Amino acid sequence: MPAPHVADQAFVTLATTDAYCMGALVVGKSLRHYGTSRRIVVMVSPNVSLEARRPLEFVFDEVLQVNVLDSGDRAHLSWLGRPELGVTFTKLHCWMLLRYHKCVFLDADTLVLSNIDELFEREELSAAPDAGWPDCFNSGVFVFRPSLHTHTRLLEHAAQHGSFDGGDQGLLNSFFSDWAVTDINKHLPFIYNLSASAFYTYLPAFQRYGYDAKIVHFLGGVKPWHCSFNPQANQDSGSQLDQYVKLWWEEYLRQTPPTVATPDPRELSKMKHSAVTAAQTPPAPPRVQPPVSDSLPPEVHVPLPSRPPPAPTDLTIHVLPPPAPPTPQNMHTDLEEKGSDWTGHQDPPPGEGGGDSWAEASSSASAASDEQPVESEEEKQKHRRLWEEGHMDYLGKDSFQNIKKKLDRFLK
Ligand code: UDP
Ligand code: GLC
Ligand code: MN
Repeated sequence: MPAPHVADQAFVTLATTDAYCMGALVVGKSLRHYGTSRRIVVMVSPNVSLEARRPLEFVFDEVLQVNVLDSGDRAHLSWLGRPELGVTFTKLHCWMLLRYHKCVFLDADTLVLSNIDELFEREELSAAPDAGWPDCFNSGVFVFRPSLHTHTRLLEHAAQHGSFDGGDQGLLNSFFSDWAVTDINKHLPFIYNLSASAFYTYLPAFQRYGYDAKIVHFLGGVKPWHCSFNPQANQDSGSQLDQYVKLWWEEYLRQTPPTVATPDPRELSKMKHSAVTAAQTPPAPPRVQPPVSDSLPPEVHVPLPSRPPPAPTDLTIHVLPPPAPPTPQNMHTDLEEKGSDWTGHQDPPPGEGGGDSWAEASSSASAASDEQPVESEEEKQKHRRLWEEGHMDYLGKDSFQNIKKKLDRFLK
């Protein structure tokens, strides 16, 4: 028998673009799939199209429109390697969902793998360690209590101190600054926020504990909706990451209630294109103060008519390249030149220090591919130097496919 609906608690996610709506839809569907007894809410920004909102209407209890809050903090975002993440300040609006007493925020790039309602036993602010700096929590999954008071204090904190990563995670970590040292109950086990970077930074632990993963977080510049594939192709041979991407797609295509209108995969190229375009668009000029005066408008529920679900066809596509390599147009400082990697953080390449740098890793992956000739030692060193200087060859040796090959090798 399903658990009673707990009406004053909710899972919350956010999408400020049509592409992130695809992710939000999967968050909602996967929560439903595992029979959550809590309400599920998605915040969308005004620019999100009706086509992208419509399927959300069928899966979420509430689709709420919120204004975009953007830190506009290019300097700090360049350290993160993700200039587009200033808009993650929009997450802060979740503290305004006052009809709920307790909530769990989930990034739109997460996939729920089991019932996770036990998270509501935790207190604000509970979160899992960030794989890149475990004394910080990762803000892709966190337990919080909506409160006008906290919301106001967060905005004041942002105005006074900004965010050390230009996004919500830097702000939230400096606001909830005792997370690392006070209450261990506020440290969620890593299986509640298993990020792709963990797959290669500590593979034995992943093999030991990963089977119990409850939430996978596709953290970084490349999201599952940028990758599509033939589900048959990786049935036997895929890496764990492939398997999670496959699960993501299965969830995306799952017809939850009979009327759910999942956007036609043939339309996806448009959305994928818009995601990539957004990532390439130069961010707004820096502002002296974060624009924190932007307030939450009255919550708007957008009822939309249904339409018949389209047939999922043409799923065998390709993996889009990761965000554009630096160009004279988007290059500003040396720091900004350091492009994002698979994890989205400036993670050290796997094996660094052990003589197997990410550049070498990536060049050996290239060497294994059909297109690339085997590199000489000199070429490898040059490649490594270019990588370390931030000049990635995203369309060649450092292409997503080659990096993925290397990940697969690490995982096997
Ligand atoms: N987000 C969004 N629009 C954007 C960027 C981010 O709606 O253009 C939201 C979305 O919920 C996303 C979250 O902010 O999951 C954090 O961004 P992302 O997951 O890309 O960051 P990462 O976890 O990769 O560092
Ligand atoms: C992180 C988190 C993400 C957050 C971003 C910006 O890597 O995964 O949730 O929005 O940093 O702070
Ligand atoms: Mn994320």
